[in-house]
Amino acid sequence: MRARRALLYVPGDDRHKIEKSLTLGVDCICMDMEDGVALNRKAEARATIARALQELDFGRSERLARINPVGSGLEKDDIEAVLPHHPDGIVIPKIESPEQIQWASGKIEAAELANGWPVNSIRLIVDMETARGILNLKEIASHSRLDALIFGAEDFAASVGATRTAEAWEVFYARSAVVTAASAYGLHAIDMVTIDFRDIERVRREAEYGALLGYTGKQIIHPNQVAPVQEAFTPDDEAIAHARRLVEAFDEHQAKGSGAFALDGKMIDMPLVKAAQNVLARAHTAGKV
Ligand code: COA
Ligand code: MG
Repeated sequence: MRARRALLYVPGDDRHKIEKSLTLGVDCICMDMEDGVALNRKAEARATIARALQELDFGRSERLARINPVGSGLEKDDIEAVLPHHPDGIVIPKIESPEQIQWASGKIEAAELANGWPVNSIRLIVDMETARGILNLKEIASHSRLDALIFGAEDFAASVGATRTAEAWEVFYARSAVVTAASAYGLHAIDMVTIDFRDIERVRREAEYGALLGYTGKQIIHPNQVAPVQEAFTPDDEAIAHARRLVEAFDEHQAKGSGAFALDGKMIDMPLVKAAQNVLARAHTAGKV
């Protein structure tokens, strides 16, 4: 799996911000045609993203394009504007049903076949951010084309009539449901945005908490958020050393015939070993081990 610790939204009609995003060393750049773009700038966004995909070198950053929701009336022109330039992936917002994924998946596959590209070379990622989307998570997450689920807290709160708070308990059920569904189907799970982009400590805290919940990455909206978020989703040296020690001790005890044992005064058995292996896997995708 590739690292998707931070997914930066860039308004698709803003060439300056797109160029700026290339300098940030961010794992994913998502050029937006949806809510980051005014209704009278949608055509400009399509053309600007198409040009950026043709002209700019994104280095190691993943090149994503977010279209408007399937059913909005804008989605066909959006996806047709970007597919010929082979983005690494398409992001679809406000997904509520498997049929919407099927529509996008059909468009993507047709473009792949028409251009002689390998099928599945363009990935598909969806924003889970409405009440109906959360209720239909299982049918959505099990679609074979999908690569990641994104949790949209602001839209979800608006969808159920909740008021957003700093503690985020009003969205906790949905936040937890998305990470569970992603894990059940082997997908990346990308956590909510911290909209208060001047408060670096806050985005760091929220990213660390997202990582504790099992999220593999987080959406971001500003260059200031790249470093704290990518750090929060990269295990530090201490965590890696501890995980290695735990896995080694487990292997030794297994060989001696004991499934559970004590390490530093704590009981260790299979779930803790799996957690340690998750830490090592995260360190590996982040290029650390
Ligand atoms: N991607 C790339 N560059 C960005 C950026 C982004 N998301 N947000 C800001 N920048 C750039 C600015 O252009 C500016 O560049 P400069 O110094 O070369 O002029 C620099 O970073 C500092 O930006 P700043 O002045 O602090 O912020 P701003 O007032 O220009 O922009 C926002 C604030 C919120 C409008 C902007 O961050 C943004 O558009 N974010 C994404 C919004 C979005 O896509 N929302 C939909 C998905 S949730
Ligand atoms: Mg949204």
